[in-house]
Amino acid sequence: MSESPISDLYQDLALAEFYDLAPRPRPDFAYCTTLAANARSVLDLGCGTGVLAAALAAGRQVTAVDPAAAMLRLAQTRADAEAVTWVQADATTLRLGRRFDLIVLTGHSFQVFLTRAAQRAVLATIAAHLAPAGRFVFDTRNPAFAGAKERNRAETEHQITHPVHGPVDAWNISHYDPASGILSFSNSYRITATGETRSASARILYTPREVLEGLIREAGLSVEHWLGNWSGAAFAPRSREIIPVGRLA
Ligand SMILES: C[S@@+](CC[C@H](N)C(=O)[O-])C[C@H]1O[C@@H](n2cnc3c(N)ncnc32)[C@H](O)[C@@H]1O
Repeated sequence: MSESPISDLYQDLALAEFYDLAPRPRPDFAYCTTLAANARSVLDLGCGTGVLAAALAAGRQVTAVDPAAAMLRLAQTRADAEAVTWVQADATTLRLGRRFDLIVLTGHSFQVFLTRAAQRAVLATIAAHLAPAGRFVFDTRNPAFAGAKERNRAETEHQITHPVHGPVDAWNISHYDPASGILSFSNSYRITATGETRSASARILYTPREVLEGLIREAGLSVEHWLGNWSGAAFAPRSREIIPVGRLA
């Protein structure tokens, strides 16, 4: 089992249903869709509510994995859910006994693995499920990116509209420990109509590129391109993202 506990942000249905309401661009979806063009099979690890998995399922076999029942429940109620094979499992121990043309971990799912052991385990899962000519891609935020990692309520508060609860005030608070690379954060949602506030916290790990490079190599994988964002720019030391695109070594 993963040494990284699953946050209530993903396990509690009342919180998980806010996940797709967050206003964030998803350039990762466009990149992964292009990468999937010649793939007949795709494995999505840490698929969350399954938006990408479902979008990729037209014309190919997609298996989408997440240990959080609430996220998977939301994924399975999508209109286009039937085309995807949904698996409730931990990506660090998953062994499906088959290989895929493309393996993706989007939305910084790689950062939920909080120890080197857990990171090694998920990379081993990627290696165990990649077809000989298959590709993998994932994103992890660059610890050297200059953007703020400490955030408070005033800086992050914004309004969203929940389909059932109506207007909601949402905010997040985060604290970063550079020594460990762990960012602790909480997401909160205050439902205007009732005044009820729902909150949960989680932790994610930031990994320097040189450390990641070693872990990927140890797992028997090799990187063809290091990207610095999902628009496809090459990685630079201060890039926002670290995005390895690679295959079996
Ligand atoms: C930030 S969300 C990303 C979801 C989705 N990939 C996206 O792009 O929106 C992180 C996801 O990782 C999942 N997760 C947490 N622990 C995991 C584990 N051990 N194995 C696989 N997924 C895990 C969470 O349940 C959550 O759905």
